Amino acid sequence: MAAAWAQNIWLAPQEHDVASIGAAASILRGLQRNWGAYLPDHVRRATLIEARLPPLKPKPLVFPQAAPTAHLGAWTLLGARRLLASPTQSSPWINGQPLFVEDRAGPPSRAYLKLWEILALLGTWPQPGERCLDLGASPGGWTYALAGLGAAVVAVDKAPLDPAVAGMKGVTLRQESAFGIDPAAEPPVDWLFSDVIAYPARMLTLVRAWIDTGRARNVVCTLKFQGPTDHEAAEAFAAIAGGRVRHLFHNKHELTFSWEGK
Ligand SMILES: C[S@@+](CC[C@H](N)C(=O)[O-])C[C@H]1O[C@@H](n2cnc3c(N)ncnc32)[C@H](O)[C@@H]1O
Repeated sequence: MAAAWAQNIWLAPQEHDVASIGAAASILRGLQRNWGAYLPDHVRRATLIEARLPPLKPKPLVFPQAAPTAHLGAWTLLGARRLLASPTQSSPWINGQPLFVEDRAGPPSRAYLKLWEILALLGTWPQPGERCLDLGASPGGWTYALAGLGAAVVAVDKAPLDPAVAGMKGVTLRQESAFGIDPAAEPPVDWLFSDVIAYPARMLTLVRAWIDTGRARNVVCTLKFQGPTDHEAAEAFAAIAGGRVRHLFHNKHELTFSWEGK
């Protein structure tokens, strides 16, 4: 299984002795243009090095927008005179931290940020009129974001939805348990979303049922760990063909599973 929990993986790390601040900056500049600094230590010295690099001013994303694709590397100081630099990294963002122009007025919870993050990473999102099932939708952050895209959202939760979200165009409510819904008896959905609080093993059965019956074209599902991490369930999710499990910057003690059918 890929290192799902890593916020950012340095893919090609190299170490250099650096006699001076100028020498460190010149090694980095010689490798490429775009560098994000990781500064847990030697902060003053590293800041002086950073000042000699081309400035990097990533623009916050405006949802819906795909994550940046420009090359980006990461560096740090292991010691005052020892540079560690990786010209490539797994995340499109500096230190794996996405930047968004946040919506502080509309969504009733901050959960929308993890939905924005995974859709930016996938580079795809529900189109107007596409059918979305949002399981565990209350209070309605995800439903708010999806309805805002013009999708037709069926919001499922035992708890009520924020009335402002419930009244949005394209939103339908089903106040019931996500586990009582039999995918075989449902019309197909373009997107199955779930942020239900449930044991990951239980979510695995639910997600498999939607995929195996061919009733979902795309899946985004949060795996929430209460207490110790259920690595076995996480690995079973990761083993689903076409699926991927990752820890988003906006995930807590959770992982996010995504799957795209053919
Ligand atoms: C973290 S909250 C979801 C937040 C939501 N995604 C948002 O953006 O506002 C988890 C939700 O799962 C719901 N839930 C728990 N068990 C459920 C079940 N069996 N069926 C449907 N919803 C369930 C809870 O009522 C709760 O509202």
